[in-house]
Amino acid sequence: MTYRIGYLIGSLASDSINRVLSKALVKLAPDDLEMFEIPIRDLPIYNRDDEYSPGPAVTAFKQAVESADGLLFISPEYNRSIPGALKNAIDIGSRPWGQNSFARKPTGIIGASAGAIGTAVMQSSMRSVLSFLDAPQLNAPEAYIHFDPEVFAADGTVSNESTAQFLAHYMSEYSAFVARVLSSALPGHM
Ligand code: FNR
Repeated sequence: MTYRIGYLIGSLASDSINRVLSKALVKLAPDDLEMFEIPIRDLPIYNRDDEYSPGPAVTAFKQAVESADGLLFISPEYNRSIPGALKNAIDIGSRPWGQNSFARKPTGIIGASAGAIGTAVMQSSMRSVLSFLDAPQLNAPEAYIHFDPEVFAADGTVSNESTAQFLAHYMSEYSAFVARVLSSALPGHM
């Protein structure tokens, strides 16, 4: 069984270390995961006035989220929380009321920073948000990535063997989690 996993990158920066991390994760993912990016760059700022007249970017975003078997959030931490662009995308995807695109999607949260705590506080905030949105989350392993440019090449090649093994393990645990969540869903209840 192959699972289509949409990944959202919480940074808009062209030289984002989290985009580099996403490339590493795609390279190290097991063969049963087909990874594709769900871009957030072109989304408007959420405005309730537009909920029932969404523009094409919003419609495409919600369709991409809904088409995925699972979602992986790969994000920096901004001011000990979720970057505004990513929170905005989540707010957009969660609405209108009753049309929450994230509901019951198996999710993973991972992020890189140059700092020592490796996005731990952002991830904690994300867990609250995703719980509210009824999106089950991979609880373990946790993945707080301290980004070392000598370990991660720009194309996502990871030169440190133990880091590569950890990231491959994370992706294989995420794959097993997706399989568990989807196989436990009763027909007609997803
Ligand atoms: C940061 N950075 C940061 N790092 C961190 O570990 N905890 C934090 O709370 C913050 N806060 C923060 C706020 C804002 C507005 C910026 C721009 C940056 C530093 C951040 O980890 C660093 O810029 C990363 O390179 C961001 O990831 P991307 O954009 O390179 O993927």
